[in-house]
Amino acid sequence: MTQDELKTLVGQAALNYVEPGAIVGVGTGSTVNKFIAALAGIKHTIAGAVSSSTASTERLQAVGIQVFDAADVEELSVYIDGADEIDHAGFMIKGGGAALTREKIVAAQSRKFVCIADESKLVRTLGNFPLPVEVIPMAARRIQRQFAALGGTAILRLQDGVPLVTDNGQHILDVTGLNIAEPLGFESEVNQWPGVVTVGVFALQKAHVCLLGTADGVKTLVF
Ligand code: 5RP
Repeated sequence: MTQDELKTLVGQAALNYVEPGAIVGVGTGSTVNKFIAALAGIKHTIAGAVSSSTASTERLQAVGIQVFDAADVEELSVYIDGADEIDHAGFMIKGGGAALTREKIVAAQSRKFVCIADESKLVRTLGNFPLPVEVIPMAARRIQRQFAALGGTAILRLQDGVPLVTDNGQHILDVTGLNIAEPLGFESEVNQWPGVVTVGVFALQKAHVCLLGTADGVKTLVF
């Protein structure tokens, strides 16, 4: 099976976690796009969605799913999102699509985080994928130096030759060369740095379940 087919498989499997009448928390990315396509098929059974990005909002609305503002709804039963890496404890690196801050907000509002991913995303230790960190632009240079002190190299993410601007009007640093052996401690520490909006380690908001697309079908990992 191709990676695209594995994404379709887990996107469809995630429907099993959608409760009738629910407002569903929806992440961002190519795997989530498969989920949105599957969700369109059962849209009359749900109340709507809370979205983690402008891109997902547009896609949800295009298939006729009502999108609610996160601030206007209470706790969500489930949040469905992809990951750039996930380890065997359900800790993740996210933010490859630059939506990490809103993703973490919607995840924090949800009782259950269901990660959907193809098997290439499962890792023993986080950190091979460049770690996305959303930062306030005036702090970017200093934060780059702080990562250098940890042995990392933080590069400003560009889009069409200029700094990428997130849905929140901020910038993204992608950090390589880090050893993220203790994701909980690492997330807590970096989140304290002045100017960091969100670090792309999801340990406090880890996955509860991972639907992993493999050549043998969907494997369900419970953390
Ligand atoms: C976006 C994310 C995505 O979940 C992550 O990048 C995985 O994306 P894809 O499903 O396209 O591989 O964190 O900010």
